[in-house]
Amino acid sequence: METAASDVHPIKTADDVVRIRQEVRKRAVEVGLSLVDQTKIVTAASELARNTLDYGGGGTACVEILVNGARPGIRLTFEDKGPGIADVQLALTDGYTTGSGLGLGLSGARRLSNEFYIESKPGEGTKVVIARWK
Ligand SMILES: Nc1ncnc2c1ncn2[C@@H]1O[C@H](COP(=O)(O)OP(=O)(O)OP(=O)(O)O)[C@@H](O)[C@H]1O
Ligand SMILES: [Mg+2]
Repeated sequence: METAASDVHPIKTADDVVRIRQEVRKRAVEVGLSLVDQTKIVTAASELARNTLDYGGGGTACVEILVNGARPGIRLTFEDKGPGIADVQLALTDGYTTGSGLGLGLSGARRLSNEFYIESKPGEGTKVVIARWK
């Protein structure tokens, strides 16, 4: 697998979340995703960026375009050095929230992606990787 392009974006403010949405949309168009798939990856990105900001205390989003033979794709990595998630399985349950949300962000992002990976250590931070293929 080859990474054709890669950009790292800070997530420190609500404006950064908006910028990431725009950047992911632009990259998804470049990759040639259908309108429906563009919206899926943008929605997932928005949820994960929001979590990075709200629970992780800010962090970064890395946007990569992937070239894997005939099948291009987009991979997004959200990282923070916040408090981490004690029980990742629980956090992935529909409706589970420690905030005031609906508790559908993480589980929704997983459903909207072709690949989903999460790693979190209490006291160290959280990393979520998603990918969508054409
Ligand atoms: N980056 C993170 N760092 C620490 N905790 C997190 C992080 N992302 C998610 N969580 C925890 O996982 C829970 C579930 O996240 P999820 O995005 O599914 O729901 P929510 O953000 O609470 O609500 P919604 O996204 O529906 O508005 C959060 O309430 C929070 O406790
Ligand atoms: Mg959320």
